[in-house]
Amino acid sequence: MRVLLIGCGGREHALAWKLAQSPLMTEFYAAPGNPGIAEHASLVALNIEDHEAVAAFCREKAIDFVVVGPEAPLVAGLADRLRRDGIAVFGPSAAAAQLEGSKGFTKDICARYDIPTGAYQRFNNAPKAKAYIRQQGAPIVVKADGLAAGKGVTVAMTLDEALAAVDDCFEGAFGEAGAEVVIEAYLDGEEASFFCLCDGKNVLPLAAAQDHKRVGDGDTGPNTGGMGAYSPAPVMTPDMVARTMKEVIEPTVRGMAESGHAFSGVFFAGLMITEKGPELIEYNVRFGDPECQVLMMRLKSDLLPILHACATGTLDKVDAEWSDDVALTVVMASKGYPGAYEKNTPIESLPETAAGAKVFHAGTALKDGQLVASGGRVLNVTATGATVREAQEQAYELVDKVVWDNGFCRRDIGWQAIARDGR
Ligand code: AMP
Ligand code: GLY
Repeated sequence: MRVLLIGCGGREHALAWKLAQSPLMTEFYAAPGNPGIAEHASLVALNIEDHEAVAAFCREKAIDFVVVGPEAPLVAGLADRLRRDGIAVFGPSAAAAQLEGSKGFTKDICARYDIPTGAYQRFNNAPKAKAYIRQQGAPIVVKADGLAAGKGVTVAMTLDEALAAVDDCFEGAFGEAGAEVVIEAYLDGEEASFFCLCDGKNVLPLAAAQDHKRVGDGDTGPNTGGMGAYSPAPVMTPDMVARTMKEVIEPTVRGMAESGHAFSGVFFAGLMITEKGPELIEYNVRFGDPECQVLMMRLKSDLLPILHACATGTLDKVDAEWSDDVALTVVMASKGYPGAYEKNTPIESLPETAAGAKVFHAGTALKDGQLVASGGRVLNVTATGATVREAQEQAYELVDKVVWDNGFCRRDIGWQAIARDGR
């Protein structure tokens, strides 16, 4: 199979690493890719916002299958464009990608199909939003409706914080994304990321992971794209997975099909496990980053036929087998992230890794033959072990061998699982 992978982050490096192991792979390209992805695929300097250019490349190379990593090209309709040419694509249509692109759209599906989620209201002006907040009281959550690179959410513990967040949204802090605001009840519990493939009608549950959103140890400081993750997530017991499938995923599949926008791709359900059970915080329509990295480390099956079955309506013909080991990844970021940071700082040396460990590249580049940090989140140092503690020890042992002066990481990835059962 001739495959093109779209994206350039740590998630795409993990997908590339796993896809490249498939005996079905004959030619493998990635656009735009990064130096880590280049170990597994030929990089193509395509502008992925230019859908005609991507389609032309696919024609030229007779690409059979395109795997789209990030959400932006999906929301922009890249999958629709390529499907018009008869190419199999892993990832939803623009219409179905609204599940991630518009929080209001998702909330309305939840209401219509009785999917457990925080009570909410949508507003397009500040006075009405503020009146609702005053009526509900704090804690309360204020969300910009559209895509805001993970920064459009304020979990307000006080009324003043919530009112200020409303002003931020309507004053344009998140651009177009804040033109509409969703005000949502605060959910108390433990968070988990649950992944499940859907081909429009069939579903294949994958696995769960836990992310670490805050930049600092002990979950302090501002939110980030994710500073580390591990899988499995102990809070997602078999019973909780069964409930999530029945109460959250299955009604969503039905709702999307009935709305005329059948969903094909990966559901990334951000869940809060509350006293009542699983409640949906949000959907993403692509793999989590860095959650994908730990999922790929644990997946024993060949990824390529699974994603291809997802894209071609044959998910009922495949299965996914998982290792019982724990995988844990530590994100190394440029000092200053998620605020301003220096670019192009040299990464002097990366450790050798054996089977069961891997340093995935996220924001790296090659400048005159020197590996440099080109982004905020730069490396995902990933290891496995029989327990979370063992995987954590292995990962930090590798972290300590990375020679990169401008890098930093959290030192407590996995703390929730370790606090839970001491392992
Ligand atoms: P999001 O950008 O939608 O992933 O939200 C960022 C983070 O805000 C989530 O990972 C949660 O930690 C938190 N959050 C979002 N919605 C709620 C809610 N209703 N109750 C409590 N925390 C929330
Ligand atoms: N790690 C969270 C995300 O990918 O959105």
